[in-house]
Amino acid sequence: MKGIILAGGAGTRLYPMTRSVSKQLLPVYDKPMIYYPLSTLMLAKIREVLIISTPEDIGKYELLLGDGSAFGMEFSYCVQERPDGLAKAFVLGADFIGDDSVCLVLGDNIFYGSGFTAMLQRAAHKKRGATIFGHYVNDPWRFGIAEFDSEGKILSLEEKPQNPKSNYAVVGLYFYDNEVVNYAKELKPSKRGEYEITDLNRIYLEKGLLDLEVFGRGFAWLDTGTTESLNAAGEFVKVIEKTIGIKISVPEEIAYNNGWISKEELLKTAALYDKTSYGDHLKRVAMGEYFSKIQEER
Ligand code: G1P
Repeated sequence: MKGIILAGGAGTRLYPMTRSVSKQLLPVYDKPMIYYPLSTLMLAKIREVLIISTPEDIGKYELLLGDGSAFGMEFSYCVQERPDGLAKAFVLGADFIGDDSVCLVLGDNIFYGSGFTAMLQRAAHKKRGATIFGHYVNDPWRFGIAEFDSEGKILSLEEKPQNPKSNYAVVGLYFYDNEVVNYAKELKPSKRGEYEITDLNRIYLEKGLLDLEVFGRGFAWLDTGTTESLNAAGEFVKVIEKTIGIKISVPEEIAYNNGWISKEELLKTAALYDKTSYGDHLKRVAMGEYFSKIQEER
């Protein structure tokens, strides 16, 4: 399975912060925002990732993440000329995807909760169809919304509805079989001129090939779309890390635990970030300090 991180967009709702800095490079407490969705793909055991961004910003992502070898991964980069919709990712990424299945994660979506790894791997191992995830929200008009019955069967999907049929938002994490490339090529732009991910999901829904996994109450999905929610996300990560006494969403740590990088490679990055709590964390991981904690979570 391949992975795609979409890190484009003009970020206008975060102006002036995002006038010269790409939104997904902004800090969420102690690390760049894109580290969180990258961690999500890594927990799904996805090693080949395409990063899509704007012509102005793509170079900054390359500078931060490189060819992926620091994470034992392979990164490719691709430019989206215009912000013309999430579903375009599969057209731009068609060659990269090849004959494989694919997971798309939005560069500004942050997930945290127990049982997440198992959920991801379940979706990643499905042979046919697609999986989307739902999370309760109080402002459903801002999202793609899924209406479903008591068995979790999806009844309808709507993008930013004026009269939402439920309070369950479809989060920015999607798993598809290889057919997605063909379906994406057939899509027509919506009224707002975008290739909508919700239209793509509706194709799977109509074919009876779309599964919905709903995150429970103990699961946090953080939105970073506004100044308020971006700061709240930073606070949340800070509180979680202080409370459990361990950092979350650290890609090098996941790479090490996945067996994708050696202790020496981990320590090389730790040395690079020597003066920070991030570097200190990597050193502790290399010393095996968190091993028992990791085992408990699994
Ligand atoms: C996009 C999708 C929407 C989804 C949301 C999740 O909206 O179009 O269906 O619920 O991401 O973050 P956007 O944030 O691009 O407005």
